[in-house]
Amino acid sequence: MDKLVIEGGKTLEGAARVHGAKNAVLPILAATVLNSGENIIHGCPDLKDVRSSINILRHLGCSVHRDGDTLTVNSAGAANCEIQEELMHEMRSSVIFLGAILARFGRAVTSLPGGCELGPRPIDLHLKAFRQMGIAIEEEHGYIKCHCDKITPAAIHLDFPSVGATENIMLAASLAEGTTVITNAAKEPEIVDLQDYLNCMGAKIDGAGTSVIQIDGVKRLGSAEHTVIPDRIVAATYLSCGAAAGGTIELTNVIPAHMEAVLSVAEQYGAKLYVSQDRIVQVAPQRLSPVKMIRTQPHPGFPTDAQSPLMAALTLARGTSIFVENIFESRYKHVYELCRMGADITVDGRLAVVRGVGALSGANVCAMDLRGGAALVVAGLAAQGRTTISDVYHIDRGYENLEDTLRGIGAVIKRE
Ligand code: UD1
Repeated sequence: MDKLVIEGGKTLEGAARVHGAKNAVLPILAATVLNSGENIIHGCPDLKDVRSSINILRHLGCSVHRDGDTLTVNSAGAANCEIQEELMHEMRSSVIFLGAILARFGRAVTSLPGGCELGPRPIDLHLKAFRQMGIAIEEEHGYIKCHCDKITPAAIHLDFPSVGATENIMLAASLAEGTTVITNAAKEPEIVDLQDYLNCMGAKIDGAGTSVIQIDGVKRLGSAEHTVIPDRIVAATYLSCGAAAGGTIELTNVIPAHMEAVLSVAEQYGAKLYVSQDRIVQVAPQRLSPVKMIRTQPHPGFPTDAQSPLMAALTLARGTSIFVENIFESRYKHVYELCRMGADITVDGRLAVVRGVGALSGANVCAMDLRGGAALVVAGLAAQGRTTISDVYHIDRGYENLEDTLRGIGAVIKRE
């Protein structure tokens, strides 16, 4: 299995281009099932979760072709409405296909989703919303069987602004007869991108990016072409790399407006930021200032996915930073590995107290999940000596060409 080997302590200097957002591509790929036609999607990173989605689309009967970062999906031939257990277990986000398959076929069978390394990740909000939309659901032997004669529009209040549930409702409601309204909807930029994609197909959706989304169902959806938004979590990770290792980095293909909470924290740790429409330049301070309190929250709050890379950087701050993880349980698995590298972190439930140390030392560590693995890269870049990270497949789920990008800004990193 692949390992990443980093010789730490090299200052980072230069420009890095951020690829398209994984979490925007996945629901858009699910949306391609809806139109029985052609979908051209630019800016799709070649990542494991994207490949898993392509496998699901092919299994459903769609043709999928990749040319560079452009995926062309033709869903005219889709005929299957069952997703096999193996495909479903490859990634949790496969549950997002339910809404689209139901809208097109009125029937969907899947196993319960996999990819649950962040603690329990229930889909009760998705299923409750589907039931409100007149969909009958049977859960047995680890399978979910859904069917309906037609999807009934509904007023759906989400008890928590779940990203996946919001997306699933949008997909299911886009072909319903009538108007569905979601209140307490998730406001993430990836939801806005899904709305833009669906509207490009001819859907009538309004309000994404706010907590109320209105979906006026249409009879059919047509072909569409779209470029996905840049990955704000990848951008946040590179900012943490630059903060930890020091130096000046320039990120291109970013939307700073999607990253306000992350940029606010960067200012608090003492970075100088030069921000334009699609670029961010970060000049790291000699030593980072601690950040009093970082609470992960639904957007526009600080994103849970950026928590661990930031924590890795703040292990080196001049003082104590406090994290409160409000979105997922079990999202501190990187802490033990960071401590092996010399970090001083104490965890109590949702709270992590990070006391800054003068230096980290390279060690053999193991990526426990996607963003926790990225945190080890951040730490390895700043540490003295060599860090070897195993179970890199976790990191590969979210970062395309990570080593090449980091080498391009002066890191000494290779894959073995
Ligand atoms: C998405 C992102 C993930 C990110 C997360 C929060 C994708 C592919 N993944 O995941 O990277 O970390 O948003 O920003 O876009 N919950 C329930 N019941 C449900 C659904 C969710 O209790 O039916 C809980 C979850 O357990 C979790 C919280 O709500 O504690 C947030 O989950 P959700 O917003 O749904 O995240 P995902 O869509 O899974």
